[in-house]
Amino acid sequence: MATLARTENAASSPESEAADAYDAVGERYRTYADGDGCKPFDFSSRYSFADREIWQRIDAALIGLRTSGRTLLKVVDAGCGPGTWLLRVVLRARALGFQSIEAQGFDISSAMIDLAREEARTTTGGIPEASFIVCDIEQGLAAHRDVAADLVLCLYGVLNHLPVQRHNAVATELARATAGSLLVTARSVGSLPSIFVAGVEDALDFQHDHQRDRLCVHLKDGRHIEFGTHLFSASELKSLFADEGQVAELIGLDLFHGRFAPDTRWNPPMIADQDFNDALVRLEPLWACDARFIDRAAHVLLHLKRGVRGL
Ligand SMILES: C[S@@+](CC[C@H](N)C(=O)[O-])C[C@H]1O[C@@H](n2cnc3c(N)ncnc32)[C@H](O)[C@@H]1O
Repeated sequence: MATLARTENAASSPESEAADAYDAVGERYRTYADGDGCKPFDFSSRYSFADREIWQRIDAALIGLRTSGRTLLKVVDAGCGPGTWLLRVVLRARALGFQSIEAQGFDISSAMIDLAREEARTTTGGIPEASFIVCDIEQGLAAHRDVAADLVLCLYGVLNHLPVQRHNAVATELARATAGSLLVTARSVGSLPSIFVAGVEDALDFQHDHQRDRLCVHLKDGRHIEFGTHLFSASELKSLFADEGQVAELIGLDLFHGRFAPDTRWNPPMIADQDFNDALVRLEPLWACDARFIDRAAHVLLHLKRGVRGL
């Protein structure tokens, strides 16, 4: 069985393991995360319900800024992966009439940054407002301390891959880099099993050791990858950010869709039944903040507002 070079050689750090894991899957991660075809606003992945929920909040933040008269926008995406979220933000910001847009994404995986740069270059007309760099999250965020961003994103597995000892420092840097809204999501402690870098169907087998926060995956292509993966409870995520600003929202994303929505790509096919799908849509907001359900969502979303008094 082939094993990735850096996991074979003893001295791997959590950061190099995460980089290796995402470098190994490359384009496959993008298809998993963004759906087949990966069109910016398709929202066709298995997390499309969660993606739409996140997008609504991003869109509301952008509209709020424009409505208040802002024409300049600065946005940062920490752990941007293939750049899809940042490029969406730029396209939408242009459409809303922002005249100057500064967008930066960074990620520890060079393969993810290559994908993001390629997408920014090949999107019709190019997206020169967006820059992408390879770096660790704290280094990337520290560069924005002096001129903080209107909107900072840290979405999906980024925080999950950091060692617990780094959580407080990274939360502080995320907050410092934010002048307006920070949107963070993390995979929750009661979510369905995931291998993060691709769909579970791409794994021959995998094991998540929750005591050691380690995920070991044998991919079907023969590769073996191991990396740190810590799952969050909603209260744990909230406590990381509670002193950094106003926690405007704490909500479970996708309690029902990932588990139950009939889709031949990942759930058992069922007879397409609009009533069933409509019921899932109605159920989500009823239970998304309920303490008995929130930790069973696929992801927990936290919206932190900076510069707002009264926690
Ligand atoms: C599940 S992906 C999410 C990517 C992107 N945010 C999205 O929503 O598509 C997790 C990302 O976190 C990145 N990552 C993990 N540890 C990191 C670190 N210490 N610094 C920066 N990026 C990191 C990985 O390389 C990967 O691209």
